Amino acid sequence: MRTARDGTTVEQRFFRYGPYTLLGIAVLMSALSSGLVGMTVTDMYAAGILTAAACALQLWWGRTRPGSTPHAPGAPVYYVLRTVIGFALCWFNPFFSIYAITGYFDVGVLLPKRFARAGLMCTAVTMAGSQSGGGMPPASLTNWVAFGALFVLHASLALVFGNIGAREAERTQRQAETITELERANTRLEQALAENATLHAQLLLQAREAGIADERRRLAADIHDTLAQGLTGIIAQLQAVTSIADPVLAREHLDRAAGLARHSLGEARRSVHNLVPAALEDDDLPAALKKTVAGWTERTAVRADLTVTGTVEPLHDEVGVTLLRIAEEALSNAARHAGATRAGVTLSYMGDEITLDVRDDGCGFDPADLAPHSGRGGFGLGGMRARAERIAGTVEIETEPGQGTAVSARVPLVRRT
Ligand SMILES: Nc1ncnc2c1ncn2[C@@H]1O[C@H](COP(=O)(O)OP(=O)(O)OP(=O)(O)O)[C@@H](O)[C@H]1O
Ligand SMILES: [Mg+2]
Repeated sequence: MRTARDGTTVEQRFFRYGPYTLLGIAVLMSALSSGLVGMTVTDMYAAGILTAAACALQLWWGRTRPGSTPHAPGAPVYYVLRTVIGFALCWFNPFFSIYAITGYFDVGVLLPKRFARAGLMCTAVTMAGSQSGGGMPPASLTNWVAFGALFVLHASLALVFGNIGAREAERTQRQAETITELERANTRLEQALAENATLHAQLLLQAREAGIADERRRLAADIHDTLAQGLTGIIAQLQAVTSIADPVLAREHLDRAAGLARHSLGEARRSVHNLVPAALEDDDLPAALKKTVAGWTERTAVRADLTVTGTVEPLHDEVGVTLLRIAEEALSNAARHAGATRAGVTLSYMGDEITLDVRDDGCGFDPADLAPHSGRGGFGLGGMRARAERIAGTVEIETEPGQGTAVSARVPLVRRT
């Protein structure tokens, strides 16, 4: 619907100013034809008063309901008064039907639906009366017949056009509702898109943060398992040298310290390049574990056995590295804290899962007594868990003071592709 700069539609402006224009034309035509239709001076005064009343009515309605909202309160009063004035004016001069015809135009907007027909019929009476010749009331039988015929014609046309208008109005109303609904849906869509964009940005940020945190954990675990482990071993060997007088034995310890340093340096370099540990480069996990256990026994002089159960299968690098590192840390703990006389490592291939158990018969400990992570050591147990969780696995520790310790890791068996 076309709207003017002040926001009103063409229809609204027509309903507001149209009656003035038609009244003006009607007054002009009536003045010119006053002699022809035999208006007396009294008639002219009466018509003048009614014209002023019509203007006042139009002024009131224009001020009260400038937007002419459909079925606004007061609208029927306005319609009825205008129809009565129009009828009365036509009584004095038929040319006032030019004004009375407005009753056809806005009946649908001003009257409730059930009274619209009555409004049209009243207007039809006025129009037929003014067009039947001889003025109102009809003077002769011929005038009455003409009035009747004209009334039927007017009434029929008004009803037909009224129906067409009503259907058109309904269609327009439905269109307007559809447009409003579409606009609402559009707004909702825009909101959803904006929310989506924000969510996407948040997810990206979270993913980046999670990636950073994950990489930090990987680096921490690698530093702990390569450099820190190696340095701990080297310190132990060097300490042993200071308390040994036998130069041959001291030489052995120094060689072991040098070997550990070389090994740790190599592992640290491999970790920087994100490669699998040297132990897994040429060997599969059982073979690598065998060497680890043998090396541990050699360093600690504590007997340790490796048992492998199930069918050995080629493992994905991540699975192999995770279990090897867990075994190394568990053995390192057994050497440093347990004071064990025996240790056992069991690797079990169980179809969809693979488990690693590292047991010692040492002093054991109370996990509840462990001091919270202090930054000085104490990373090992947490690191084992973090490594296992990274590949959807778990680590459980069974221990109590005097009862030895058993570390059990359980991870999905992902085969090398
Ligand atoms: N096999 C074990 N026997 C006895 N005590 C153990 C054993 N394993 C761990 N503990 C106890 O649990 C504590 C925590 O072990 P964890 O591996 O987390 O740290 P850490 O070995 O002290 O230091 P880090 O591993 O960071 O060099 C140890 O300090 C020790 O008291
Ligand atoms: Mg440890």
